[in-house]
Amino acid sequence: MMYQIKDLQLSLPDMTRKPLLGAAPRIEILRGLTFDVPQGAVLGIVGGSGSGKSTLGRAMLRLLEPTGGSITFNGQDITHLAEDDLRPMRAQMQMIFQDPMSSLNPRRRVGGIIAGPLHVQGHEGIGAKVLEALDMVGLPRSFANRYPHELSGGQRQRVGIARAIALRPEFILADEIVSGLDVSSQAQVLNLLQELVRELGLTLAFISHDMSVIRRLCDRTLVLYRGEIVEQGPTAALFANPQAAYTRDLLDAIPLPDPDQVWA
Ligand SMILES: Nc1ncnc2c1ncn2[C@@H]1O[C@H](COP(=O)(O)OP(=O)(O)O)[C@@H](O)[C@H]1O
Ligand SMILES: [Mg+2]
Repeated sequence: MMYQIKDLQLSLPDMTRKPLLGAAPRIEILRGLTFDVPQGAVLGIVGGSGSGKSTLGRAMLRLLEPTGGSITFNGQDITHLAEDDLRPMRAQMQMIFQDPMSSLNPRRRVGGIIAGPLHVQGHEGIGAKVLEALDMVGLPRSFANRYPHELSGGQRQRVGIARAIALRPEFILADEIVSGLDVSSQAQVLNLLQELVRELGLTLAFISHDMSVIRRLCDRTLVLYRGEIVEQGPTAALFANPQAAYTRDLLDAIPLPDPDQVWA
């Protein structure tokens, strides 16, 4: 099992309500989430804005420390591991962000950006690994010398993917990675991701508010509402027979009459 997550709770201080003296009251952002992510699975995490999707993703990568429950990654309890002990695991868990324009350093060339995690992990032969990563995401090798602002939105997101797979991680978390793209770039980026998942045997958690994308990509889906899981199960079953009222609302909000057409 890639992830076993039990009764995960996460609260943060609410700085908007901090009194002049003393601690800020805490707001509960994740409330008792329990789910597994099998090796090789593509898990969809869906929910409206503010439902806790990004917070859950950051907790899974241990960029945030849970306040309750446990997270087991590859059989190891990482719930409260210190950064030094997390570092070897960080090579196995990578993230692709929503907005590549703000997540890619504008002053670094693409090659340097992709090389970043390889340096952190002390790899050798980094130049060759960077070029290989560019090959894998279908960008010309010459792009290593370009700056992010010289690329289109879809190309920038490919750079984000190249950076994430350069380390050959076992697990990737993608947080709303196609939200800012036009429909045809969306389809290309998602096709690429799907291909990489297959070829590299990746386990993927795919955060989205878009049910049509979830249906296309994910084996299993988990529906978040106000920091709680209101429904989870195989994607096909969830679409065919949604149990929670909130899931039905999300399905009703699918903007296209036939989402499959977008992918043709
Ligand atoms: N650092 C923080 N401090 C306080 N509240 C936060 C913080 N980060 C997120 N939140 C709140 O937690 C909730 C979930 O946020 P988030 O995980 O970003 O949701 P989503 O990704 O589903 O839109 C929101 O209500 C948000 O305002
Ligand atoms: Mg988010």
